[in-house]
Amino acid sequence: MPSNKKFYIRTFGCQMNVYDSDKMKDIFLSHNINQTDDFQNADYVVLNTCHIREKATEKTFSDLGKIHKKGKEDQKVIVAGCVAQAEGELIQKRAPYVDLVIGPQSIQSLNKFLDKNNLPKTSITEFDVIEKFDTLNHIKTNTSNKSAFVTIQEGCDKFCHFCVVPYTRGSEYSRTVKEISDEVKSLIDQGVVEFTLLGQNVNAYHGLDTQGQSNNLASLINSISLIDGVERITYSTSHPVNMTDDLIFLHGENSKLMPYLHLPVQSGSDKVLKLMNRKHTRDYYFEIIEKVRKVKPDIALSSDFIIGFPGETDKDFEDTIDLIERVKYMNSYSFKYSPRPGTPAADREEIDQVILNERLKITQDLLNEQQIEYNNQFVKKTVQVLIDGAGKHSGQIKGKSQFNQSVALQGEKEIIGQIIPVQIKEVLTHSLLGEKI
Ligand code: 5AD
Ligand code: SF4
Repeated sequence: MPSNKKFYIRTFGCQMNVYDSDKMKDIFLSHNINQTDDFQNADYVVLNTCHIREKATEKTFSDLGKIHKKGKEDQKVIVAGCVAQAEGELIQKRAPYVDLVIGPQSIQSLNKFLDKNNLPKTSITEFDVIEKFDTLNHIKTNTSNKSAFVTIQEGCDKFCHFCVVPYTRGSEYSRTVKEISDEVKSLIDQGVVEFTLLGQNVNAYHGLDTQGQSNNLASLINSISLIDGVERITYSTSHPVNMTDDLIFLHGENSKLMPYLHLPVQSGSDKVLKLMNRKHTRDYYFEIIEKVRKVKPDIALSSDFIIGFPGETDKDFEDTIDLIERVKYMNSYSFKYSPRPGTPAADREEIDQVILNERLKITQDLLNEQQIEYNNQFVKKTVQVLIDGAGKHSGQIKGKSQFNQSVALQGEKEIIGQIIPVQIKEVLTHSLLGEKI
């Protein structure tokens, strides 16, 4: 049935939120409601929020205020994601014009309400991840991209003391091998060739196969790599304690597995790692890095760092810098510690903000330097680039190398979607310039 209705969706935060937003898009499209970039004239506005760091709740309320002021009459406003999960009641109280509040494990309820063409004023924050995927498995996927995210695992049982994820996404859940393979196949039918397998603790994956046997991530990757049409596989985000030997060895054995590993360490100090409840030491992390580099010497490594965790002294910070200098990353993310309501670290005394900002700058400068150094090795070398769209400048196209580097080059739009060899000519701060060979 044709419809003139439109939805607008804005996504904050991690790749898992991007995946959930794509699924909400699929739900709207399956009800013949089309996407628009103009929130003022949309019939449905969705904010898919993130609660991981800093003033997330305030930002949500300020965005909601703008939407409420400028949006058209009868517009339905939906708040999804981790702020919805954590602050559902507060949202209903402070922004009573919001229609639906849905947590990350309840996005499927949107489907039910659109079926009935009735969006009630309610808040749904159940952790019903089984129902979530049962519903999503039956909704048609829509993409024109060559690279896609596939959530294979949700939630986290690790309870790092700084992190809200175990509270907003709930405990660990793994989808079955069949569900994941079916989703991969349906994406291949739409032209996807590169797959990023997602999970808050992706390498804790333990989904069942059709024989009822539990499969770990290494075995899942092997099964997916056998599906016709799959060219590249990567996974994110991993925890060091779940880096099993078979997963490490797979990097040397499975040619579809991209030579890239995002393995957050958070801190280089054993004392801080303990305070963070990370369940591993710095030496354990070094051991994994050594093993991975042994089987795949050119693997690109990336990490997350939290700077200024309560109790971090100058010596602890020096240990973090020392770890970065020893590992040498291709790119990494460093964040200022931000106390999250309800987490064990939230009540601990914060460190001086001036010192924290200085440490953050030192870390980011070093990580940027390492990224440039890493990329400089590629000048005159050839990488395989999956071309995914037009570049910033005229006549330019861009894509991603197998090492997860952004690469721009001159080329015709017709080769968008292909994996082509590109010779690197120049290194910019966060990307590379190359030439088709
Ligand atoms: N403060 C700062 N950074 C955080 N992260 C998670 N929680 C916090 C917090 N409270 C960072 C971690 C994690 C990344 C996704 O976000 O580095 O790996
Ligand atoms: Fe958060 Fe730690 Fe779980 Fe990662 S492993 S999601 S940082 S609690």
